[in-house]
Amino acid sequence: MTKNSLTKIKRKGIPEELTLDAARRWAKPRVTEKRFKHIEGVAAVAKDLAERSGEDPFLAELAGWIHDGCKEWKDKELVKTALELGMQLNDVEKENGHLLHGPVAALLAKRELGIRNQELIDAISEHTLGKVEMTDLSKVVYLADCLEASRPADFTDPIWAALDSHPELLADLDSAMLVACDLTLDSLIKSSRMIHIKTVDVRNYFLRLVKERIV
Ligand SMILES: [Fe+2]
Ligand SMILES: [Fe+2]
Repeated sequence: MTKNSLTKIKRKGIPEELTLDAARRWAKPRVTEKRFKHIEGVAAVAKDLAERSGEDPFLAELAGWIHDGCKEWKDKELVKTALELGMQLNDVEKENGHLLHGPVAALLAKRELGIRNQELIDAISEHTLGKVEMTDLSKVVYLADCLEASRPADFTDPIWAALDSHPELLADLDSAMLVACDLTLDSLIKSSRMIHIKTVDVRNYFLRLVKERIV
């Protein structure tokens, strides 16, 4: 199979008119200027990380532009929309509606932008909490959100170091996911915030994966 036909398959379910610039224009009026800078940074890091790890840079950047489209919504609004979608919410999600901004952005990606590419929809949905057995595209978007330039260096440096920790791999996404989960858990504990059970499950999943792998 040629590289072109593989790219075509990967990008199935993305409307032709949905260019990166169109996604950027979609995101801009939905968020504050500060948040838009973050989104811009995530889109750029996602593109770079995708290039480093053999993922499609277009899909990664597109997810970056869309991922925080609902980040300015009120918690109540996110909970209401998630319930309307038929999502089963646990108590932590009901009390911390902001945790739902990924799945709700994924819904908007379908409804407003006509996206039907499941890998892209999942990457947007999973960017906050991750998921056990997430795809490499999803890891790229999750990590880009952690590594965007405005994040503090004591958070980003260990993740960048983990990405480079296995010379055999272009980018060690799994080790970087483990470090990102550990740092997130540490920060949630230090700031007395609730921990979603998924964050623990995802952390344990990557710990096991990194410990058990041969490479
Ligand atoms: Fe987010
Ligand atoms: Fe973000």
